Amino acid sequence: MEHRLVTYGCLSILGASIAGAAADIHSPGDVATVLGATFAAYVLSDLGTAVYHWAVDNYGDGNTPVFGRQIAAFQGHHQRPWTITQREFCNNVHQVFQPALAPAAAIFALGPFVPLGLHAFMPSFLLLVCMSQQFHAWSHMKKSELPEVVVALQDAGVLIGRKQHGAHHKPNFEGNYSIVSGWWNPLLDNTQFFRWLEHRVVDATGVEPRCWYAPDHEWAEQVQPGQ
Ligand SMILES: *[C@@H]1O[C@H](CO)[C@@H](O)[C@H](O)[C@H]1NC(C)=O
Ligand SMILES: [Zn+2]
Ligand SMILES: [Zn+2]
Repeated sequence: MEHRLVTYGCLSILGASIAGAAADIHSPGDVATVLGATFAAYVLSDLGTAVYHWAVDNYGDGNTPVFGRQIAAFQGHHQRPWTITQREFCNNVHQVFQPALAPAAAIFALGPFVPLGLHAFMPSFLLLVCMSQQFHAWSHMKKSELPEVVVALQDAGVLIGRKQHGAHHKPNFEGNYSIVSGWWNPLLDNTQFFRWLEHRVVDATGVEPRCWYAPDHEWAEQVQPGQ
């Protein structure tokens, strides 16, 4: 019940922000601005999820302040990837919509005071980042378990698909972190962007990422019971 409240509450706030931007359209130029901003939010949300996923996979643990729960959830996901497919929608996504409530409220309050493009971009970006938790769950399901429209979007490359995300689930979990469209994965992996970033983190803090080492037993993938 609380999961539904958080999820639909946050979705409503973000929906109201997007509706506010749409209500501010007064010319064909405004239409282009809103569509362009929404598309930019879609493209950049994929990059945002890659950076976030990389960070929680590689640094900290369950005791880390603020992000501990998310870090433990991502680590548990490597170990038992099938459980994400067994959760009902609100039960799955409330984990991200909960921390997104305050930013969503701030975006709603700021919307009318920023340029139209930003008014459309901010809620769209946050919505897609939150929904990546569901896109991720879908990428772990078999096509036969998914609505046809989701399969069509995955096949068209609009949403991350099973094969591309499956490439992330190989020790040491060192690439293919994007979970919206997956468009950024080849670019980020081929340029070794995260290896570069990891060295900057070592330079600054001395902390090495988890993906430089083979996972210990706590991280090894388990076998789904009954399979
Ligand atoms: C990412 O996935 C592709 C296949 O889609 C694979 O060839 C590549 O090695 C993966 N990248 C990393 C860094 O694991
Ligand atoms: Zn991961
Ligand atoms: Zn996964």
